[in-house]
Amino acid sequence: MIVLGIESSCDETAAAVVRDGCEVLSSEVASQIAIHQEFGGVVPEIAARAHLQNIDVLVERALDGASLSVKQLDAIAVTQGPGLIGALLVGVSYAKGMALASRLPLIPVDHVHAHIHGALLGHSAAVDVFPCLALVASGGHTNLYFMPNACTFQLIACTDDDACGESFDKVAKLLGLGYPGGPKIEQLAAQAGGKVDMFPMPQSIEQKNQMRFSYSGLKTHMANLLAQKGSSLSEQQRAQVCAAFQDAALGQLVRKIATAERRYPQARHLLIAGGVAANRRFRTLMAESVQLEPIFPALEYCSDNAAMIASSGFHYWQSVTDKGVFMGPYGWDAYSRYDYASVMVSSVDGSGT
Ligand code: KG4
Ligand code: ZN
Repeated sequence: MIVLGIESSCDETAAAVVRDGCEVLSSEVASQIAIHQEFGGVVPEIAARAHLQNIDVLVERALDGASLSVKQLDAIAVTQGPGLIGALLVGVSYAKGMALASRLPLIPVDHVHAHIHGALLGHSAAVDVFPCLALVASGGHTNLYFMPNACTFQLIACTDDDACGESFDKVAKLLGLGYPGGPKIEQLAAQAGGKVDMFPMPQSIEQKNQMRFSYSGLKTHMANLLAQKGSSLSEQQRAQVCAAFQDAALGQLVRKIATAERRYPQARHLLIAGGVAANRRFRTLMAESVQLEPIFPALEYCSDNAAMIASSGFHYWQSVTDKGVFMGPYGWDAYSRYDYASVMVSSVDGSGT
């Protein structure tokens, strides 16, 4: 089954063609980082307008890259939510128009779930990884799931406040490193000479021993530390501050995964996804503390892309018996991160979170 995926939830416009949920025939991404950099974060209105300019070109390029015409597609999958509502509407409206005009099924996809399916890109469709544990750590979400199968997401833990990637972005801004913060902090932390404990970090969420993540305390601690000592820190000390913060932020993820592993002994694999999955220190920390062999996406599929959307569309398609729900006219629309819970109850996979 050949699916065209379309993604426009935040600051990347993307289109990709994927066969059977795992074989990427083409993947095009237009990043808006340069446009938003001067504002220190994504400006929703600007993001939506940039998607509008890019989307048609990206879809053309993805089809060209796969050497396919629209007629050779079996379905279109598009990010329905969560995300910036104006940005999502561009992708959703474009995909609805394209699907209606070409009489193709249109599969609405949840962006967070799609990150997880993205970890399976490149693995043979025959590899059965379920039941498994799956973590999405991105700029908007920090969700740990138990997944009995490809389209059932049982939420084990999520964040009380900021997302893990968001904390990297906010701390990088405090340090004047620019946006997006994750790669910049990782780069600076690598210059700390392995000294990760020169600056103690708070661990309150650990002491409560609950299956929740929290990043706002860590961020406030960093804000206070930098307000007190920021100007007197040497370059070496700035690197050590980054290394200490990075280990505290990632350590939370690793410890909760280790706990989940004990609570869900039936899990046979561990999928790790989202922008934070690109962090190399995270991979090292996981190898030290987690028993299950983690499956990470290839680096280009950690951050937002449309191959993961196409892959997710394929898995939803497989899980739904009445394929008629994917034909127009469509009774669904885009949803922002704020109306996520209510929409998920009635979405096509029916599993909710
Ligand atoms: O999945 P993604 O591209 O977009 C969202 O759906 O949010 O994730 C972007 C997030 C940003 O917060 C970025 O700072 C973080 O992922 N990120 C990283 C790294 N690369 C990207 N965080 C830590 N280390 C990295 N190397
Ligand atoms: Zn994402």
